Order: sequence, then C-alpha cells, then structure tokens
Amino acid sequence: MTTKKIGLLGSGIVATYSHVPAIFASELCDFAGIFDPNPDQLRKIQEKHHISPDLCYTDVKKFFRECPMDAVSIASAAPAHKENCLLAVKYGKPMLCEKPLALNEEDGRIMVDTAAKARVPLWMGLVVRFAPVAQKIYELIRRRAIGDIRSLRLIFNWSCHGQYKIDDDTGKYGINRRREGRMFEGGPLIDTGTHQIDLARWWLNSEVVRYDGFGAWVENDYESPDHTWLHLDHENGAHTMIEVSFAYGHTTKETISEFIYELIGTEGVIRYDRNQKTIVIHGKKEDLRLPSDEDRGFHAMYDEFARALDTGKSDILATGMDGLIATRISRLSTDEAINKHMLLNHQGAELKV
Ligand SMILES: NC(=O)c1ccc[n+]([C@@H]2O[C@H](COP(=O)([O-])OP(=O)(O)OC[C@H]3O[C@@H](n4cnc5c(N)ncnc54)[C@H](O)[C@@H]3O)[C@@H](O)[C@H]2O)c1
Repeated sequence: MTTKKIGLLGSGIVATYSHVPAIFASELCDFAGIFDPNPDQLRKIQEKHHISPDLCYTDVKKFFRECPMDAVSIASAAPAHKENCLLAVKYGKPMLCEKPLALNEEDGRIMVDTAAKARVPLWMGLVVRFAPVAQKIYELIRRRAIGDIRSLRLIFNWSCHGQYKIDDDTGKYGINRRREGRMFEGGPLIDTGTHQIDLARWWLNSEVVRYDGFGAWVENDYESPDHTWLHLDHENGAHTMIEVSFAYGHTTKETISEFIYELIGTEGVIRYDRNQKTIVIHGKKEDLRLPSDEDRGFHAMYDEFARALDTGKSDILATGMDGLIATRISRLSTDEAINKHMLLNHQGAELKV
C-alpha cells in the first residue's frame, strides 16, 4: 500500500495538537499541506510543527487546485464544515470530517447527499471510537463478557477550558472565546455529545428509535443549556443516558472533570473511569481490572483513514450518515430542552401574575 497524502482544512487547536502530529506519526499518511483563511493561525501551526511555507495556503481554491493530495481532513470550526465538504466534493477529494458533521440536519443532509451523489467518500473523524478504551469495550461487548447490554451511562462533564482564560493572542485575561463559540453553536450536546451518541450506536450496533433531551442553565448567558442530559431508546430495547457539561468547574480554581462509561449487562457491569485510569469488568466468569488512560486515538484513526482510501471501505470509521444521525439527535434534543425551559419560564411568569 502506498502512503496517502492528506491535506488539512483548518489550523486551529485540534489541528495543532492532534491532527498534524497524528498525520506526521502515521506511517500510512504523508502531510500534503494545510489551508486556513486566517494567516496568523497558519503561521502559528507552521512554526510549531516546522511546516514549509510552501505547504500553507490561505486561498482555498489554490489549496484544492495546487496541493498534491489524495484526500482531505476537515478540522475547521463546525460552521465551516459544509463549505469545506462541498468544495472537497467538487474537487473529488475523499474526506475525513471533524465532529459535529454540521450544526443542523439540513446542512448535514446536503453534505451527505452531495458526497454520495458524486461518489466521494465522506467519513467522520469520530476519534473516540479509536481510543483503546472504546475498542476494548467494543470487543468485550462482542464476546458477551457481561451478557446482553441493557443500559449505558456515558458521562463527560468538563468546563470546556473554563469560563475565563488568558487569551493566546492578546495575553489578556477575559472570557474564553472558544467556550463561548461552542455555546453559541449549541452547547455541550452538539459539540461533545456527538461522540457519546456515536459510541452508544456503535457499541450496541442498534439504532436510536426515541430520544429526549434536558438541560440546566448554570449560566443564563446563552440560549443553549451548558449542562445537559440525553436519553436514548435503542431498537434492541437497550437504553442510553448521556450527561455532558461545559459548566462542570467552569469557574473553579482547580480543573475538574468526570469521564465515565458504565455498561450494565444481563451478566455483569463494565465501568471505565478516566480519573481512576481503569476499566473494571465485573462479570460472571471474570472480574478484571485493566489499566487504561487513553480516551482518544488520532494516530489509529489516520492509519484507518489511509487503509479506507485504499479499499474504499472501513469497518471502524464512522460514516457521514453516522455523523448526520448524531447531528440530528443532538440538535433536536437541544432544541427540545430549550423549548421545555422556555415553557417552564413562561408558566412561572404566568403563575406570578
Ligand atoms: N475530536 C476531538 O477530540 C475534538 C477536539 C476539539 C475540537 N474538535 C472539533 O474540531 C473542529 C475545530 O475545533 P478547534 O477547537 O480546533 O477550533 P478552533 O476555533 O481552534 O479552530 C478552527 C480553525 O478553523 C479555521 N477556519 C475558519 N473558517 C474556515 C474555513 N472556511 N475553512 C477552513 N478553516 C476555517 C479558523 O481560522 C481556525 O483556525 C470543531 O469541529 C470541533 O468540534 C474535535
């Protein structure tokens, strides 16, 4: 198999700390070039990773026309995913798109349909699937280590880097623009919840047939809730509860987080707690404690992307349709949580009158 040349769209935080190092580390990929409309961002990534200026583009058409690449990886901010995807289709470049696929169903549907019609592969960079812990749990489920899975509890409570921080560009302490941007895009379910929705569908190999979202507004500054719960009923009768927060310690001195996977089966329980660095399997036949602290897997994801480019298929990479389903569930359940909240506020106001 020849190595695959990957072009990157977007040179922000995830590109800098995860995508570029993973492409460099993969023996199956070569780094072809990078586009970002913001020259300052490009300069930072160029300096950090010693990328030749010839491989950096601020003109997207020039990038697609001149950068010698087999495929692209979309690591731009979510509002740019649709535009990036449609250009990749136009230039016939297979894609790996960061989550969330889109900010709403309509945009996601256009991306998936346009790519399918043009027969340009669109995979999702749902990297959590590639984490050793997620792979291990997938394997335990498949060999029925705890029987039939009936209940999942997936928790990721964090602060999205805190409400305030020192700005990288100005050096001044102020509102954390990154967290604020994610809140304006729809909040924790749309951003981070996409991973958990995808894991539940993938682990259980069972479609979601019903869902309901709830929210808490720890800060009242945004339309979207900053602490969320999502309930999913699966076709096979299992139930998933997801809890995701951007307000867990967002004002505290110490950084705190909760990252837990809990699976209840007919013959046992699997529990992963990132803070404990273990997966514990309480089964009928085994009671295991495995060390584990990796919860992402960018390098493995790029290796698989390269293999998929060779064969045109992958059993592990999430598809555009997986991304679309996660977008639909997270968007509609967030909207539903907002509607319920507004209705309650309205009723409260009426009662006071
Ligand atoms: N899988 C993960 O673990 C993980 C972690 C963080 C972020 N993400 C996702 O990655 C994406 C980027 O996140 P980030 O934190 O790096 O954001 P960021 O704001 O740091 O960077 C986004 C970059 O996109 C660039 N951009 C803007 N418009 C563009 C366009 N039209 N084409 C190309 N680039 C454009 C911006 O200039 C910026 O450099 C988001 O979709 C986010 O949800 C995933």
